[in-house]
Formats: sequence, C-alpha cells, structure tokens
Amino acid sequence: MNDKRVTNTQNQAASRSSFSGKIGYVLAVAGSAVGLGNIWRFPYLAAKYGGGIFLLVYLILMLTFGYTLIVSETALGRMTKKSPVGAFHAFGKSVPFQFGGWVNAVIPMLIVPYYSVIGGWVLKYLFEYLRENASLLAADDYFTGFISAGADVEIWFLIFSAVVIFVIIAGVKRGVELISKVMMPLLVILAVIVAIYSMSRPGAMAGVKYFLIPNFENFSWMTVVAAMGQMFYSLSIAMGILYTFGSYMKQEVDIEKSTVQIEVFDTGIALLAGLMVIPAVFAFSGGEPESLQAGPSLMFITLPKVFDSMGLGTAAGIMFFLLVFLAALTSAVSLAESGVSTFEDQLGWSRAKACALMGAVIVLFGSVSALGFSVLDFVQPLGMTPLDFFDFLTNSIMMPVAAFCTCILIVRVAGIGRVIKEVELSSEFRRKKLYCFFLKYLAPVCIAIILASSIAGVLGWIVL
Ligand code: PHE
Repeated sequence: MNDKRVTNTQNQAASRSSFSGKIGYVLAVAGSAVGLGNIWRFPYLAAKYGGGIFLLVYLILMLTFGYTLIVSETALGRMTKKSPVGAFHAFGKSVPFQFGGWVNAVIPMLIVPYYSVIGGWVLKYLFEYLRENASLLAADDYFTGFISAGADVEIWFLIFSAVVIFVIIAGVKRGVELISKVMMPLLVILAVIVAIYSMSRPGAMAGVKYFLIPNFENFSWMTVVAAMGQMFYSLSIAMGILYTFGSYMKQEVDIEKSTVQIEVFDTGIALLAGLMVIPAVFAFSGGEPESLQAGPSLMFITLPKVFDSMGLGTAAGIMFFLLVFLAALTSAVSLAESGVSTFEDQLGWSRAKACALMGAVIVLFGSVSALGFSVLDFVQPLGMTPLDFFDFLTNSIMMPVAAFCTCILIVRVAGIGRVIKEVELSSEFRRKKLYCFFLKYLAPVCIAIILASSIAGVLGWIVL
C-alpha cells in the first residue's frame, strides 16, 4: 500500500490508514462538510447580508478561492502524509512554520465547543417534537425563552458533547460513515419536500426572489466578509481538516474531480436550506427587516412554523431535526477528531488522554457559549454573545490567517510546481492556470479584505 509510510514526526514509526476508494474519500469529506454550516448558518447569513447578492458573492468565492484552497490543502496533506502541524513541519521547523501549522490545528478545537451548543439546540427540538409539542415550538417566543432559561441549554449541550466524545473514544467512525451514507440522501429528499412546501406558501415568492436575485443595493463589505467566512466554514477549509483528509487519501484519487463533487454537494444542500428557510420568513413574518436579521436563531424560529402549518408538524419535525442532528454529529466528530489527533501526534499523548483534554475544552468553552444567553449574559467580548464571539474569532480572524499561511507555504516555500505535480499524479488539472492565478493574486486580496474588514468591525468603524 503506497500510503503506509513511516512518519518522522515522532519517535516511532506510524502507519496511516486510508479511505477505501474514490467514493469513500468524497463521502467522508462530504460527511464532514455538510453540517450545521449548510443548514443553520448559511440561511441566516444569506437573510442577514443581502439575500441574492450574498448568494452571488458566495458562489464566486467558492468557485475561485474555495476551489484553490481545497486543492491546496488536500494536495499538501497527501504529499506530506501529515495533518497540518506535521505538514508545515515537513517544510521547516522555525517559528513561522510552527505558527502556520498550529493556527490551522487550533481552529477546530475552538469551533467544536460552540458547534456542540447548536447541536444541543437541535437535540432539544428533536426531543420536543418526539413529545408532540409541535405547536409549542412554533410559538413566537419559544426559542428566546428556551435559550434564556439557561439550564436546559447546558444540559442538551452536554448530551450532544457526550455523544461526540463517545463516538471518538469508542472509535466507531465506521458507523458514522455509514450514518452519513444513509442520512445524506434522506436529508436531500426531505429538504426538497420542505423547500417546495415553503416556497408554495402565500407571500413566499418574495422570499425566493430575495434569496435568488442579486440586488446590488444590499451589497456591503460585510457581505463579502460574511460570505468568505461562511465558505471556509461550510467547506471545512482553512482549519487543517483537509490536510488530514488529504493525508488519508490514496494517490489515485482525482483531487480536482473530487473537489468539484464536494463543492457541488455542499452548495446544493446550502441552497436547499436557504429555500426552506428564507421564503418561509417572508410567508410567516412578511420578510420584515427585523425577522431577516434574526441571526443564529432563524432556523429554530422559522422552520417550526413551517412544520406546524404543514399539518404534519410532528412527523416533519422529527424527521428534519433527526437528520440535522446526524449531519451535525458527523461534522462535530470530524472537528473533535482533528483536535484529538493533533494532541496525539504532536504531544505524543495516548488517545484516552487526548480525548479527555478535548472533552474538557468542549465543556469549558461550550458552557460559556451555552450560558451566554442567560446567567453569563454579562460576558460580552467585543460586544457579542460568547457564541457569536467564538464564531467571529474563528471565521473572520483565524481562518483568513490560516488560509494565508497555506498560500505562503505553497508560493514561497513548497513551490506551486510541487503542488501542481502532486495534483497531476491523478488529475488532468485543467484549471491549472486559474489555480496559479487565484493562489498568487486573488487569495491574498480576499484575505486582506476579510481581515481588514473584521478589524475595522471590531474597532467600530463598520457594523458587523
Ligand atoms: N463544514 C461543517 C458544516 O458546514 C463544519 C465543519 C467544519 C465540520 C470543519 C468539520 C470540520 O457544518
């Protein structure tokens, strides 16, 4: 097996397993990519930052910058057979290399705690649907009451995290892959049905137009910043994950083709989620600016109303929140797994110890996010709730930095030629010229924009 190589990071020789085949790789990455980012985060950002114009900016960025980064990270992972810290080390050991590797590796550790809080919200809704409380959930103030009550949020967050840690300790990753194979087609079917229903509500067409037709009046720099952060988040890029996936990838898997497949799939689900949620905002609350700005709570407020009005509220609610729970679980497992393997590889820790530390990080940071709407509501870093703060810190500050490090590593150290060679081992690489252009020119510009805008936002020069 060509992927069983001796690693030189640690004292001992270690062997890497690999994905079973071409489709195994795509499915594993898709399982990690499709999650709360597509279903919960994408619709609320699109609603908040201008609808069609947000979508347009998102699509352009995904096809250019996103494509470049997926190819780069995967190729570097496959070339070095290492996760991010080791991959950067393979090219040098000085401080900038340490920094580049670690900034990539730390991001998932900061995301998984607050990700698990939202996972907990999903579980709570699933539980209430199972108790046939469909109309209770559809009531106007239900969500606000729930998150400001505190204890309940913490309990469901802990349950979700326990499941994630259990999956990682028990090593039932195969089971998770199986879940995502069954879950994904079901999720698509259900999302199509709900989206059609949602779009056919009276008044919903205004929402479809708002979401699909770009209106340049709605453009602001925050549209670009939010779209770029969302692209990183949804495609699981700029956080070391794809290095790790690449390191498990066999040489014969076509990097270019699989990148396209992953992008199509991930974006398809996000579009469907947008079509479920945004038209419903218009149908049920007239698309007032206030409801469009609802933020992280949007899905939890809007969809229960849709399900309730379907007449089949309970069944639809159970199916939907079960599938979202599974999608969130597969993503959370891959985030946490990335943290655990960094501890194992870089600190030479046992798996049990690494899982314990990951668990502690989740409980600590996650609890602050979970309780930030209630008992800890005085904790307002940069004037945001802790959950928004962690989201902002990782997406708008750390990920652009991580992406920048990857670009520099390729352009200045590894050499674009080597990366291209790696891709060409198994791909025709038809977009080679574009790739070079994006990497050298577009990526630095995008990164500069997102960083500058985020800092301007923090300083209060622009509204975040
Ligand atoms: N891409 C996932 C989502 O959209 C989030 C995630 C990021 C999962 C990184 C794994 C790794 O929800």
